[in-house]
Amino acid sequence: MKKRVLVILLVLTGLAGVALWLRQNYWTDHMLRMSHQKNLAKVTCFNCHLVSTDRLRWAQPRPHHDAPAGLAVSPDGKKIYIALDDRDEVAEADTASRQVLRRAKVAGRPFGLALDAAGKNLFVTCRDGDRLAVLDTQTLSETGSVPVGMAPVAVAFCRTAAGDRLVVANSMSDDISVLSVSPLQELGRPSAGRDPFAVAITPDGTRAFIANRLVSLATGHTIPASEITEIDPMTARTARRETLDSAHQSEGICAVPSRPWMLAPLVKVRNLVPITQVANGWVMSSGLAVTDIKTGNVIQMPLDEANNYFADPSGIVVDPAGRRAFVASGGGDVVTVVDLERLAGWLEKADPAAKREAVYDMSLAPEYVTARIPTERNPKQLALSPDGGTLFVAERLADSILVVDAKSVAAQGRIVLGDGGLNDPIRRGEKVFTKAGFTFQNQFSCRSCHPDGHVDGLSYDFDTSGIGDNLLDNRSLMGVAGTEPFKWNGKNPTLEVQCGPRFARVLMRTDPIPQKELLDLTTYIKSLPPHRVATRSADGTLTPSQERGKAIFFATKTPGGQEIPHERRCSTCHRPPLYSVRLSFDVGTGGMFDTPHLLGVAASAPYLHDGRAQSLEELWTIYNPNDQHGVSSYMNKIQLNDLVDYLKTL
Ligand code: HEC
Ligand code: HEC
Ligand code: HEC
Repeated sequence: MKKRVLVILLVLTGLAGVALWLRQNYWTDHMLRMSHQKNLAKVTCFNCHLVSTDRLRWAQPRPHHDAPAGLAVSPDGKKIYIALDDRDEVAEADTASRQVLRRAKVAGRPFGLALDAAGKNLFVTCRDGDRLAVLDTQTLSETGSVPVGMAPVAVAFCRTAAGDRLVVANSMSDDISVLSVSPLQELGRPSAGRDPFAVAITPDGTRAFIANRLVSLATGHTIPASEITEIDPMTARTARRETLDSAHQSEGICAVPSRPWMLAPLVKVRNLVPITQVANGWVMSSGLAVTDIKTGNVIQMPLDEANNYFADPSGIVVDPAGRRAFVASGGGDVVTVVDLERLAGWLEKADPAAKREAVYDMSLAPEYVTARIPTERNPKQLALSPDGGTLFVAERLADSILVVDAKSVAAQGRIVLGDGGLNDPIRRGEKVFTKAGFTFQNQFSCRSCHPDGHVDGLSYDFDTSGIGDNLLDNRSLMGVAGTEPFKWNGKNPTLEVQCGPRFARVLMRTDPIPQKELLDLTTYIKSLPPHRVATRSADGTLTPSQERGKAIFFATKTPGGQEIPHERRCSTCHRPPLYSVRLSFDVGTGGMFDTPHLLGVAASAPYLHDGRAQSLEELWTIYNPNDQHGVSSYMNKIQLNDLVDYLKTL
């Protein structure tokens, strides 16, 4: 309705305008006044009018696929359960015949799975439903459900002296739900690191270890460090928090029977080193964090080879004898087999300095990596049969489960879940996005820096000059459609330019992505909706605090009645519905920057072009001394809280 009125208005005033045009240059004046630009070279009426998110690719329906997420194998090894998050289903397959037997609807994007000791109950984390569902494995129907934190992605079952427990990693609320099984209820919610993503229990059931994907915000500009969180599942209390220096993106974690070890894959990252060094060293490499569960000491070991990398490590499993670990490489399409006895042998001989430097030694992996099992596209979660004889690999973007004889590491066949989505350009684009094969020595994929199309929370030095002097905060690709130009400096007019020649020149150091794949890639990016945020209600209603914040965002006067100059009102530059007029301004942060859109902004800390602000509050408490970035000096603590509360709903 509003749109139609605007169109009619526009036509009418357009007609009137034509008459006015010659005499008064009415519209030029209007655009200059409204845009605060020195010239109008980059400005059209569509920077500010007739903008709609309804027409964007992410607002359109898209095809869904049978992409396998979490896996769980029954205690007798006969059945495997597979979470199909994109379908809102859980599938059950027969491991011998490799046929899907049943599928059950589970609302809210079922993602992580765990079985109880008897295999009677299947616990399912629902990533979009913010709940844990219980399925009876006899009937494969839901028998219980309990709310947990935001975006739960992983669950582990554990027996304690005080009864059975479930430990759930809530990836978006950065905490851990500890539940009792009967009755099914939450006992506590200790905090985790940033983006907790995997849970494992020690063999004696006294500790749960949680791997976190993103680095803690406070460390982003020094040595980035992520965390392994340890909690006591019986009491739901935090026991210890270990840091993984210069490492992040752990998506899996696994205990080692017969050794006091917890293993988590990780990505070693040198984001503060100029990215151009990718040609004469590495920017990113894969490793394995070996945590001593008694002392909490962590040693990082490399998984890559000097001239060949296996990007985006994800799921990990260890056989029941504790002899071998299997690590999926989502970008390299292999599962790496690690001989833990050889690894232990190396660790026994190595002195402390050698252990500290181990992860930088690219000649080391052949000492204990005994095989690389090739897979279809994008292997993520792994599972082993309880006897350790069969390895199951979720080939996420091929819609299949690879079944491997764990001993001989020979492929035995596949459980076929879907058709791989070859006719869907979005799906094909996701395959390009996650493939490391487009970079020099397969070092990384787009996904290595943009997990799930979002941010890794780091700033990178994309400069060719010195070290760490041109840091650029990573940007989310979620909700990016229609917000061109791209980059913080606004120099890239389209996604095709951003992801094609530029990426090849600066990052890949190989040939550009071929045209057809590039088109699929940009289609995929355009299909990513803005990041889900906790405080955005489904029906758009706002809390009183959010309402007050909205009034501040759109205010033309301070509460004291003083006029806020037009160019210093939030809504002048961050105009709905994208919350950006897509023009560059100097807001006192050190130059001209493209106005970022604010859709899903709550989820993409840190902020500003170089990531200097750790929180939204800091934008105004620290980085707006002269009211250049909106007039904020009048705001008291409550008003600033209200404004931030509102921003978190966008
Ligand atoms: C930089 C942003 C910007 C640009 C570019 C811009 N406008 Fe506007 N326009 C505004 C704002 C702000 C208003 C005030 C009402 C509102 O907020 O919608 C407005 C109001 C209007 C109105 C309502 C009548 C009025 O004058 O208040 C019309 C019609 C209009 N613009 C047409 C145009 C046309 C035609 C162009 C292109 C030649 C254009 N605008 C370019 C920001 C812009
Ligand atoms: C080494 C980490 C890294 C890799 C790999 C990477 N990006 Fe980025 N990406 C960044 C950073 C940092 C920025 C912000 C840079 C800037 O604005 O100048 C960015 C910005 C972008 C933007 C602009 C977003 C906006 O709102 O302006 C797009 C689009 C993008 N990346 C897509 C991709 C695609 C597609 C790939 C793979 C072909 C990729 N990126 C690989 C780190 C990375
Ligand atoms: C003159 C235009 C302008 C005004 C007025 C303005 N902004 Fe901004 N805003 C920008 C620009 C440009 C940046 C990027 C600056 C940088 O990265 O150094 C930005 C950055 C931001 C960011 C950080 C986004 C991110 O992803 O890092 C937020 C949040 C924000 N603005 C909200 C607001 C609010 C709230 C107000 C009002 C109090 C406001 N802005 C007023 C232009 C403006």
